[in-house]
Formats: sequence, C-alpha cells, structure tokens
Amino acid sequence: MGVYLKATARAHTNIALIKYWGKRDESLFLPMNNSLSITLDKFHTTTAVEFCPCLPVDLFIMNNQLASSAEMAKITHFLDRVRGMSGKSWHAVVHSTNNFPTAAGFASSASGYAALAAAATKAIGLDLGNKALSQLARLGSGSACRSIYGGYVEWQKGEKDDGTDSFAKPVLEGGDWDLSIVSVLVTDTPKTVSSREGMKRTVETSPFYSGWLDSVEADFLHAKEALIHHDFELLGSIIESNALKMHATTLGANPPFMYWNSATLDVIKEVQSLRSGGIQAYFTIDAGPNVKVLCQPKDEQAVRESLEKLPNVQNTYLCHPGPGLTYL
Ligand code: PMV
Repeated sequence: MGVYLKATARAHTNIALIKYWGKRDESLFLPMNNSLSITLDKFHTTTAVEFCPCLPVDLFIMNNQLASSAEMAKITHFLDRVRGMSGKSWHAVVHSTNNFPTAAGFASSASGYAALAAAATKAIGLDLGNKALSQLARLGSGSACRSIYGGYVEWQKGEKDDGTDSFAKPVLEGGDWDLSIVSVLVTDTPKTVSSREGMKRTVETSPFYSGWLDSVEADFLHAKEALIHHDFELLGSIIESNALKMHATTLGANPPFMYWNSATLDVIKEVQSLRSGGIQAYFTIDAGPNVKVLCQPKDEQAVRESLEKLPNVQNTYLCHPGPGLTYL
C-alpha cells in the first residue's frame, strides 16, 4: 500500500422551498435569485475520498459500481479545483453511497457534492470553514451549497462576478420548528431534461422567465418571514405558488418541457382536497415528477395515508428537518 490521505463525510439532501432557477454565470454556478431549503433527515450521501500518489487517474465508485466516464469527468473536474486549492496533484479514489435511489427525484447531486467537497478538502489537508465549503460545493451543483447546513437554509445569490458572496447560511435550526415533509415517489425513471439544461433553456428562451425574476425575491422574503414567525399557512401558500411559477417557466421554453407526469397532478389534486377537508398540506416539486408535501407533524400520518391510496404513488417517505455535514 502506498501513502494515502483519507477522509469520509456525510451530507443530507435538501428540498427547495423557494427554488433556485436560472444561473447568471454558468461556469461559477452563480444563481439569478436567492433560494431557501430544508435539509432532510432521511436521505444522505456518504463519501470517502482517498488521495494517493500511486493513482494515475481519479476513480469514482457510486453505490459500489464504477461510474460512467461522463460522471467520472465531472468528479475529476471538481477534484481539480480541490487540488488547485491545496497545491497537491495526487489523484483520488472516491467512494460514494446514497441511502436512497439515485435519480429518483431526491436531489442526489446536492448531498453528493456537499459530501464530496467536505471529504476531499479534509483528506487533502485543507481546513475550510462552512462558508468556503458551501462555495466549493456550489461549483459541483448549485443546490449542494445548501446541504452543508442542517435545518432551514438560505442561499444568498450574491452580486459579485467572482462568486465570493454567493453561499448558503442557516436561517433556523431544524429543532426550532419541526415540520413534516412527505416525499412522494411517483416514478424512479431518470428525468430527460437535467436541472442544469432545464434552467439554461428557460433563461435563454422562455418569455415567462422575466415573470419568475419579477416575483421570486418577494416570495423569498415572505417565506423567510413565515419561517421565522412559524407561520405555517403563509409558508405553505408561498412555497406552493413559487413551485408552480418555476414549473410554468418550462412550458414557455423553446423547445418546451415539463417535469410532471399524470401522477404528479394526482398528488397535487389530493393535496388540494386535503386542504378543502381542513388539513393544512402544501406541495412543492423540484426538477422532476416526484412531489414533496409539507405539513405539520400532527397531520403527517393522515397526509401520508391519503397519498398512499393514490394508485400511481409508488411509495412515500416521511422526513423531518435533518442535520448538516458530519465527518465519519
Ligand atoms: O443544483 P441543481 O442543478 O440540482 O438544481 C436544482 C434546481 C431545483 O431543484 C429545481 C431547485 C432548487 O433550488 O433546488
């Protein structure tokens, strides 16, 4: 065995309450708008990184399988940044494991790049604080910058061209306000339009994108207020309309695209009918057909049972606010 430098980190996925949708800088992953998320307790990625002078190239093993060359290239690109920061040129073996199905609409890239940023920098001997880790994770996948922290998190978009003011920070600890998130699986087929491609196409071609930009900052500020004041009804109504507006921009893109399928609509309608029956539940949808339903812990069983009755729902997963980065 040669000399090697090793570290292991775990990061949890997050769901966006106010969506990051559109970049102002493609290569630095700088967003057009501020966003807000909840880090989930149930879903996480654990990543071990070992740098060794014995390796001629980087190796990426995802869920015990050697990754495709396209995936490998993304990881090498990311590790090149880490190598550049440290002054060391060694290659690495990256072992990553998700405790949930990859590409099942559960934002594996967010937990994946947050865990990789933490494990790779620690292994190579860099001692970065959470702010610098958030900025680094952002360069792998925008939403990853929020998975550095637990609980309720904001990503401030920043104004600077170099991205040094674009990073996430905590808004509330998970323990400050316990909410329930029912993650509804309607399909595990990988999406055909990635979030990266989808937001780029929308920014460039959708006439509805300007409407998104005109209203998202007010949504962000009101949702943050609602969080701070624990106003569930206000929070729910804002996040639901923010999700609908994001998805509306995709319909105006050229060529147009839609992340929903018919089961997505079934879930939306069920949530609306739960509300008519007096149960406060609100939906949000990221870049895929699966739906996340937000409710209060007292209603979580009723919400879950009613969603599981829908014929096209494959599974539901009950989540609560979860922790930030941990090192193992
Ligand atoms: O960071 P990405 O490339 O996975 O994009 C995330 C886009 C949304 O999930 C739709 C919104 C968000 O803020 O997470």
